[in-house]
Amino acid sequence: MKKIPFGIIGCGLMGREFASAAARWTHLPEMDVAPEIVAVCDANPKLFPWYTNHFPSVRQATEDYHALLANPAVEAVYCAVPHHLHREIYCEAVASNKHLFGEKPFGIDRPANDAILGSISRHPGVLVRCSSEFPFFPAVQRIGRMIQSSAFGRIIEVDAGFLHSSDLNPQKPLNWKRQVQYNGEYGCLGDLGMHVCHVPFRAGWIPRNVRAILSNIVSQRPDGHGEMAPCETWDNATLLCETVDTASGEVFPMTLKTQRIAPGEKNSWYLKILGMQASARFSTKNPKRLELLDSNDGEQMWRRIDMGHETAFISITGAIFEFGFSDAILQMWAAYLHELEHGRPPSPLAGCVTPEETALSHRLFTAAIKSQRTTAVVAVES
Ligand SMILES: NC(=O)c1ccc[n+]([C@@H]2O[C@H](COP(=O)([O-])OP(=O)(O)OC[C@H]3O[C@@H](n4cnc5c(N)ncnc54)[C@H](O)[C@@H]3O)[C@@H](O)[C@H]2O)c1
Repeated sequence: MKKIPFGIIGCGLMGREFASAAARWTHLPEMDVAPEIVAVCDANPKLFPWYTNHFPSVRQATEDYHALLANPAVEAVYCAVPHHLHREIYCEAVASNKHLFGEKPFGIDRPANDAILGSISRHPGVLVRCSSEFPFFPAVQRIGRMIQSSAFGRIIEVDAGFLHSSDLNPQKPLNWKRQVQYNGEYGCLGDLGMHVCHVPFRAGWIPRNVRAILSNIVSQRPDGHGEMAPCETWDNATLLCETVDTASGEVFPMTLKTQRIAPGEKNSWYLKILGMQASARFSTKNPKRLELLDSNDGEQMWRRIDMGHETAFISITGAIFEFGFSDAILQMWAAYLHELEHGRPPSPLAGCVTPEETALSHRLFTAAIKSQRTTAVVAVES
């Protein structure tokens, strides 16, 4: 098995998810390439022992990401840091000719994203992709195959969203994800938006314009030191987009919702596609359940299918067993490593988000912010 030596910059929540996926690589019996964590970097050295205790392959633990990027043993980097650091660290990672898997939103704002894409264009030899794991749920892979075979017919309407209730409690203390300087003006769009855009963009459904309504529902929160501090990021966003199906040139409405304050929702990623020939509904709320409707059936009847472990990258887990969040992370990493080794994903939805798709998301989110400010429909730059 070929090994790709990886460095992790940002050893928090998502850094650990990647390391754990690397440790579970034996789950993927047909992969001919594997990640090996050889270096870790975080501003907080207290996070290092978890890595060094569990991964004897880690030979460098540093608080300075420049040192990790200067390490010739590191071939590829996973970067999972707060959004205000994306521009600087992603650009430098690419400039040091390391392959990069970067977290969304891939730059705190559009100028940062432009700079990252500029750096990538100057270093075409590196593979750069962005994180988004939910399309790897088996039901979504099946929807992807339906999109590929034009099974939906003319698209009538698409609804996609990602809903949390983690901020419903106004006493939850502030962290970097709720502060504009670290999280960005996009707020919930920057946090959750790329997840929602991945499938529509890959399907070739491109928003032409947007009317956005954004809400800042909890405007101050405990600062963790006994005081209250401003919480200025957008909590919830609803985007209604006039969208072009690039395959047919036809236009349809698409609603994209990203909400941090959605009562009753924990981490619900959903997708609903209504088409003239067929329709599909899926939500991670019921991770096994895929609902399909064939418009030519006579009866207009939703069928419920229990999906098992029918994954894009073959897993040792029995085909009837359930799929979950950490399985999606493992599959997403398999997709990145597969593309690194073989040059292309096995199918369109078994591939990670491209830098160009992140750029489209930034054009959409920038237009959404303007739409909120002007209470008007705003064109999305093409
Ligand atoms: N794909 C997903 O499902 C998903 C989920 C959550 C977060 N994210 C994204 O992952 C990224 C990180 O989020 P997280 O939840 O892991 O955050 P986190 O706060 O848990 O981890 C970020 C880490 O970066 C470290 N850090 C800060 N400055 C640094 C520096 N200069 N050099 C090195 N390390 C530094 C922090 O000490 C912290 O440990 C963000 O872009 C976020 O949007 C993705």
